[in-house]
Amino acid sequence: MATKTQSRQSSKSRSSEKSAFNWGDGNRNMLLGAAVAGAAVGLAANMGRKFLVQATSGASGDWADALMMEHELTLAIFDKIEATDDSQTVMRSHLLMKLKYALSKHANEEENVIYPALRHAGRTQDAEELVAEHGMVKNYLYELETMRNDSPEWLARVRSFRSMIEEHIRDEEDNVFPTLRSQLSDEQNSKLSAMMNKEGFKFA
Ligand SMILES: [Fe+2]
Ligand SMILES: [Fe+2]
Repeated sequence: MATKTQSRQSSKSRSSEKSAFNWGDGNRNMLLGAAVAGAAVGLAANMGRKFLVQATSGASGDWADALMMEHELTLAIFDKIEATDDSQTVMRSHLLMKLKYALSKHANEEENVIYPALRHAGRTQDAEELVAEHGMVKNYLYELETMRNDSPEWLARVRSFRSMIEEHIRDEEDNVFPTLRSQLSDEQNSKLSAMMNKEGFKFA
């Protein structure tokens, strides 16, 4: 914003044969105001982006609904990867990066809030199994990042990764999440949603 104002002012100054460094107080104040406003807009834009990113998953207000929405988003990235062919290596790298980001945010929310709540509710074994599966997710991501991505083997690995994740998702959505939600009071569920939202915001 400040740059645009400055360039507009510069051409105006040139046309009236004034030096660009010889503006009156009015111009200086205007520029200063524009610079401050520009910085404020930049800051607001960054915060706005964070809210927007987190709102995608946190909009429902309920922790389980938000996590299920993230599952959908994750599977949509898999769809895009599976639609690529062996020549689209740059696209594959880009989508893999997106997948890694989405899964890291999701794991951060589950491992820092939901799985501890599970253990707290006496479901330690469920929590441990899910954590172990998140470990497998990291292994798959590492493998896919280190393999050449211009071969059918790479895509085959992606498909095996997807079916592992789909099973994990089914377990969370059909068993773990509904049971945990019913074990907790409304107040505890709200608290969990707020805590999880805060974790997600760190990644937004
Ligand atoms: Fe999970
Ligand atoms: Fe999940």
